Amino acid sequence: MKLLLPNKVAIVTGAASGIGAAAAKRFAREGAKVACVDFNLDGATEVANMIRSVGGEAVAIKTDVSNEDDAREMVRLTVKAFGNPTIVYANAGVAGSGSAADVSMESWTRVVAINLTGVWLSSRYLLPIMIEAGGGSIINQSSIGALIGVPGIASYAAAKGGVIGLTKQMSVEYGPQNIRVNAICPGTVPTPLVEQTYRERGGFAADKRSEGAVGFQEILDRSRARVPMGRLGTVDEIAALAAFLASDESSWITGQAIAIDGGATSQ
Ligand SMILES: NC(=O)c1ccc[n+]([C@@H]2O[C@H](COP(=O)([O-])OP(=O)(O)OC[C@H]3O[C@@H](n4cnc5c(N)ncnc54)[C@H](O)[C@@H]3O)[C@@H](O)[C@H]2O)c1
Repeated sequence: MKLLLPNKVAIVTGAASGIGAAAAKRFAREGAKVACVDFNLDGATEVANMIRSVGGEAVAIKTDVSNEDDAREMVRLTVKAFGNPTIVYANAGVAGSGSAADVSMESWTRVVAINLTGVWLSSRYLLPIMIEAGGGSIINQSSIGALIGVPGIASYAAAKGGVIGLTKQMSVEYGPQNIRVNAICPGTVPTPLVEQTYRERGGFAADKRSEGAVGFQEILDRSRARVPMGRLGTVDEIAALAAFLASDESSWITGQAIAIDGGATSQ
């Protein structure tokens, strides 16, 4: 079977857990050499080791994507390990709870620093390499929380919306250099981040559509009930879209914010 990413060098941020871990493994299965980037080095190392244990190529790199020096170093270490990367999946992110009237300045600043500034910095030092290489694919992680209003996540929605704006801007700016830039907007996929979001919001207590705090399982059941396809997504489904967008199979797709949500934003 034809591999999607033969001999490509890819960076996946947030690769220690959830969607990023699934994407790192999928990219490696498709033939890419993968830099598994995360500020959780133990988790990233575990994922890189899993990839290597089945014959793939991967390194783990400790990076805080919101730190500019780290972002520069992430690129330097990837180049040192595998040569010039032409794919980045800027997936690292954190939950952000609070309404516009009550989110703290500290929480707002952190969420925007990681979920928006971190996405920009993830390609900041890669762009010259991609231009030199004659092209590349940048995949930025957004959320359906940027496409529809969801109560209780003001900073998260603002950051994820900013990611879509940045994606469209960059796609226009770097299209002439054959660099494609797209955003993925997943619906609910059970991961540690989702659990953290719901815990921070006190169950659905902060969700004006519901009453009272409920357990995590019940919250997932309620999320599932809002999806026309009747189920939540899986990390592997998001990873499959990322692999497609990273590959030449999507060679004329750029500047798009693609929802992958079982139809949740179509109703
Ligand atoms: N799971 C969902 O339902 C869902 C829906 C829409 C969007 N997303 C987005 O998908 C992305 C991945 O989320 P996930 O659900 O897999 O969460 P997760 O918590 O399982 O994984 C996130 C990873 O990002 C890492 N990370 C966080 N801050 C970092 C930083 N500053 N520098 C480097 N690494 C950092 C964490 O250590 C973790 O390994 C996030 O951007 C999230 O907002 C998730």
